Amino acid sequence: MLKIAIMGAMPEEIAPILEKFRPYKTTKYADNEYYEATYNGVEIVVAYSKIGKVFSTLTATTMIQHFGCDKLLFSGVAGGINPNLKIGDLIVATKLSQHDLDITAFGHPMGFVPGGSIFVEANKELIEISKEVAKELGKTVQEGIIATGDQFVHDEKVKDNIVKYFNADALEMEGASVAVVCNALNVPFFILRAISDTADTDASFSFDKFMESSAIISAEFIMKMVQHIVDTK
Ligand code: ADE
Repeated sequence: MLKIAIMGAMPEEIAPILEKFRPYKTTKYADNEYYEATYNGVEIVVAYSKIGKVFSTLTATTMIQHFGCDKLLFSGVAGGINPNLKIGDLIVATKLSQHDLDITAFGHPMGFVPGGSIFVEANKELIEISKEVAKELGKTVQEGIIATGDQFVHDEKVKDNIVKYFNADALEMEGASVAVVCNALNVPFFILRAISDTADTDASFSFDKFMESSAIISAEFIMKMVQHIVDTK
C-alpha cells in the first residue's frame, strides 16, 4: 500500500492535517511522536519534527527508513523574500538550498560541500499535482527557490545575502534538510509553505500574528493534494 509521510516542523503546522485522520495511532520513536492512519486505501504517517535542520533531518529519515514512507509532503510557513509573496501566499519549492552551509574559506560556493550540490530539486510529478490542485481550487500558487538555515531571519542584510547567493524567494528552517534526505534515499518529496512574515525587522511580530493562519492555508492545500493522490492512485 502507498505510504505517504506528511511533515511539519511545529505542532501548529500539522494540527489541521492530523485532525482529518482521526482515529490515528501514536508511536514514540527517537524522541518524537509519529501518528499513523489509513485514509481511503493509503497509509499516512504524520509528524512534526521540531524546528531546524537537525530535527527535520531526523524526522524525514525516520519516516522513510523506519516507517517505510514512499512519498513525503511537507507543510508549513516561511518568511517571504520575493516581494511578490504576501502574508498567506503559498510557495511551492522547485529547488532548495542550505543558506548557512559555508565553506567558502576553501573556495567553494555558498551552500556547497563536496559530494553534495548547492540545490536539491523537488519532485516534478508532485509539483505538477500541486498545479492541478491549484487550478481546481482557482488558487494562485507561486513556485520558487526556498533557502533553509538554522536561524529565524529578521534582518534585511541577511535577507539580501540569501537573495544574492541563492536567488531565493522564501526562507525557512527545514526544507533543504528534508530535501537532502529524500534525495539521498530516492523518495519523491514536495515542500509547501505559506508566508507568515517577510524576514525583516518586524518578522517575529508578523510570525506570531500569522503563523497559525498561514499554517492552516498550507495544511489545507496539502490535504487537497493528498486527496488528489488518493483519487488518482
Ligand atoms: N519561517 C517563517 N518565517 C521565517 C523566518 N523569517 N526565518 C526563518 N524561518 C522562518
